[in-house]
Amino acid sequence: MKIAIGCDHGGFQLKQEIIKHLENKNLEVKDFGTYSEESCDYPDIALAVGENVVNKECDLGILICGTGIGISIAANKVPGVRAALCSDTFSAHATRQHNNANILALGQRVVGPGLALDIVDTFLDAHFEGDRHLKRINKISEIENKYNK
Ligand code: RB5
Repeated sequence: MKIAIGCDHGGFQLKQEIIKHLENKNLEVKDFGTYSEESCDYPDIALAVGENVVNKECDLGILICGTGIGISIAANKVPGVRAALCSDTFSAHATRQHNNANILALGQRVVGPGLALDIVDTFLDAHFEGDRHLKRINKISEIENKYNK
């Protein structure tokens, strides 16, 4: 499994922890930055990771900012991205199963590193259930199509 990852300055420390964790599990990680705690704009990173995931260069994405909010809002503007901001493992599991979320968003200032790694593992291990949920995912795409003409 190939994972695209990115953050702004508010998520830099957690991104580094997550990369180490994923590489220890022998997962391939593509790092879209940012590469220091110097201030930067989270929409730039959200766009890069979002496009990479939608273009199927990586299987799933992980985005981190201070709260996880700005970077998930920005990523969800890329058609085909379903970014889910999770601060607990139940949501991380459910959003893969029900929403077929393709990007996990985390807030470094919200969750500690231990919980964040559990959320990451839960997200990566869960699978979309399809069936009745597919119809709803398709309706999300219809909303995108309506406004992307
Ligand atoms: C950066 O200070 C902060 O605004 C950003 O990381 C994020 O929390 C935005 O939603």
